[in-house]
Amino acid sequence: MSFPCSPRRRGPLRLTTRRQRRASAGYYRSTMCRLGGAGVAHELAGHPAAAPAVTGIARAGRTEGRGAYDPVVHLSSSVHDCRGSHCSIRGDPGLGFPDEPRLSNPLEVMVGLTRERAIAGAACVTAVVVAVAAFLGWWHVALTVMAFAQAAVIVALLDVRRRMARSHDVRKIAGSFKSVERRLDNLGARMLAAAETSRVEVADKLAEIARTVEERKVVETTLRANLENVAAKAEDNRAKVEAWAAELEVWRHGLDVVRSGVGDLGKRVDVALTEAEKDREQQDKRQDLAAARYIRQSEALIQLYEWVRPRCAMPSLGGWALDPTGVLTLLEIVRRRQPGLVVELGSGTSTIWLGYALEQLGSGRLVTIDHDERFAEQTRTHVRTHGLEELVEVRVAPLVDADLPGHATRWYDHTVMADLTDIDLLVIDGPPRSTGSMARYPAAVRLRDQLGDGAVVALDDATRPDEREVVQRWREEIPELVVSAVPPGDALKVLTLQPSGDRPSGVEQSP
Ligand SMILES: C[S@@+](CC[C@H](N)C(=O)[O-])C[C@H]1O[C@@H](n2cnc3c(N)ncnc32)[C@H](O)[C@@H]1O
Repeated sequence: MSFPCSPRRRGPLRLTTRRQRRASAGYYRSTMCRLGGAGVAHELAGHPAAAPAVTGIARAGRTEGRGAYDPVVHLSSSVHDCRGSHCSIRGDPGLGFPDEPRLSNPLEVMVGLTRERAIAGAACVTAVVVAVAAFLGWWHVALTVMAFAQAAVIVALLDVRRRMARSHDVRKIAGSFKSVERRLDNLGARMLAAAETSRVEVADKLAEIARTVEERKVVETTLRANLENVAAKAEDNRAKVEAWAAELEVWRHGLDVVRSGVGDLGKRVDVALTEAEKDREQQDKRQDLAAARYIRQSEALIQLYEWVRPRCAMPSLGGWALDPTGVLTLLEIVRRRQPGLVVELGSGTSTIWLGYALEQLGSGRLVTIDHDERFAEQTRTHVRTHGLEELVEVRVAPLVDADLPGHATRWYDHTVMADLTDIDLLVIDGPPRSTGSMARYPAAVRLRDQLGDGAVVALDDATRPDEREVVQRWREEIPELVVSAVPPGDALKVLTLQPSGDRPSGVEQSP
């Protein structure tokens, strides 16, 4: 038969008595069922508590002399026979394995005669021998056989007695089996508890491993992010280093230039010192000229106030006005030429000085022209303040087309001064240069026919390039205008209109 958790028996299984077989089989089955499998059989075979009991069974079986079942040997061999958790065993453990042949002694082995039959046969043979011997009168043979028979009976009785003692041992063995069973139960429970503990520990270990794996994943992700960050920073730093290297190269180039420049630095310093010396000399000359001019202006100013005694404060000769030397020159011309009509283009402080000069002279009049009504009114005020209204007339002539071919800059409205004829002195100090190029060129040209014989034309700001050009064109277009010699640096250029038939060489002496 087969049943779960029982190892398949190998080889003959013989137990001496039915009780022994039943106890052994029951123990064996229950133990195998509880512990299950070949591994448990190992435990059972090697367990120090279980071994004596099992060995005791084997010993009991062997002493019967019938080849008892050895659980130790059987359990050891069943380690190799069990496959998985399902084993099989032949025979009925509860009935002492009746399907097993009882071949336990030489007679049984040789002729298949059982012990009981052999004893019965021997008794019959003995009785027959004793009866034949008695019938033949062989008393000594009969007595001898009877003595052997008596000895055999005694041996049989001793055997029965030993068997009864053995039965008592079997009960003790059954008790031992129960003890072993309990111990094995405890062992199984401990093993199950240990297995559960191990399972829990393994589960904990697995959970811990899973946590560790997760943590390592997080660490790996962080490390990768850090690595990428570090790589990006390294790339950034590399770009910076390259930029610094380029900048360094520029500086190195600059240093090379400086180094090469330092080579002829002494020479260049000499050149610079020479140029500085020249500049200093020119500066000295300019300062000398400025000082001389300042002195001349001061002297002229002193002379002006010696010559003219203003009735009230004079307007300033600074700024846009004629400078003192120019005013002094005009007053000298007035004194020498005694003009009947003086015409001034561009009114201002000079107007007052000329008015006083004419007043001192006692003859002549001044007509001053201004394109700007504001400045004209300002001059009128000064004229009234100084009581010169009888001698000085202020007119306003707005700037209009000059009516000269090739000349775009506007000039005074000529109709305002068309009535002025026989001009003895023409003072040209307007329009201002801000009105356009060659602003004063039209004056001599448009008023040429209104100038009297020997008239004097005085042009202020004659040192400026524009006015130099004006003078040059006048001399080309009006040859009778002769430039008078004036001190170099003076702003007032004086020209004289030479009478016809008395053409000058171009430059006459200072007035
Ligand atoms: C050079 S200013 C004439 C100055 C005048 N002959 C004198 O000696 O006082 C020529 C014209 O400039 C204008 N002007 C005068 N003073 C000025 C000023 N301070 N700023 C701007 N224009 C001025 C007036 O219209 C004047 O007719």
